[in-house]
Amino acid sequence: MRVILTTFVILLTATALIYADSNQWGRRVVGDRLLNASTIVNNSLPVPIKTAVFQYLPPLGSARAPNVTYILARDNVRNGLGGYAALISGGINQTHASVKLSSRPNLGFNFTVEVYGR
Ligand SMILES: *[C@@H]1O[C@H](CO)[C@@H](O)[C@H](O)[C@H]1NC(C)=O
Ligand SMILES: *[C@@H]1O[C@H](CO)[C@@H](O)[C@H](O)[C@H]1NC(C)=O
Ligand SMILES: *[C@@H]1O[C@H](CO)[C@@H](O)[C@H](O)[C@H]1NC(C)=O
Ligand SMILES: *[C@@H]1O[C@H](CO)[C@@H](O)[C@H](O)[C@H]1NC(C)=O
Ligand SMILES: *[C@@H]1O[C@H](CO)[C@@H](O)[C@H](O)[C@H]1NC(C)=O
Repeated sequence: MRVILTTFVILLTATALIYADSNQWGRRVVGDRLLNASTIVNNSLPVPIKTAVFQYLPPLGSARAPNVTYILARDNVRNGLGGYAALISGGINQTHASVKLSSRPNLGFNFTVEVYGR
């Protein structure tokens, strides 16, 4: 048991180190589902600070739009030189969410944003 637990903690730590710049809001709850997953990349040169806004909106015509439960902005740049993710509107318990992504100076970014809700 202890070995399993230790392995789990090491795995978690390793994941945290690999995805050093990932960010998350809320938590998964029973009955929620993936509403949108998008990978957003900006390597445009020569802009020093690259940005992009990922926007999740409920599907048009949905009578009862799902409420957001969990948002994960996973940094796909695994060397600690990834970008930053900030929630700028909407979010947990709301029907929409916008996450602003930005790079470190003179670098690009590559994020996968996942939005869950129910
Ligand atoms: C997910 O979000 C992106 C960016 O807003 C959008 O282009 C795409 O159509 C969405 N996909 C789904 C399945 O809603
Ligand atoms: C990349 O970031 C720059 C600076 O913020 C912005 O002008 C440009 O539209 C972005 N490109 C993409 C593909 O998001
Ligand atoms: C979303 O949350 C609001 C406020 O708590 C609630 O009235 C509504 O029924 C919820 N929507 C769904 C789809 O659960
Ligand atoms: C972004 O990261 C994803 C996941 O690691 C990868 O599949 C994709 O090729 C990357 N995109 C670019 C343009 O580097
Ligand atoms: C979202 O709603 C749940 C259930 O009503 C509540 O426990 C939680 O504190 C709310 N979270 C936020 C960030 O509003």
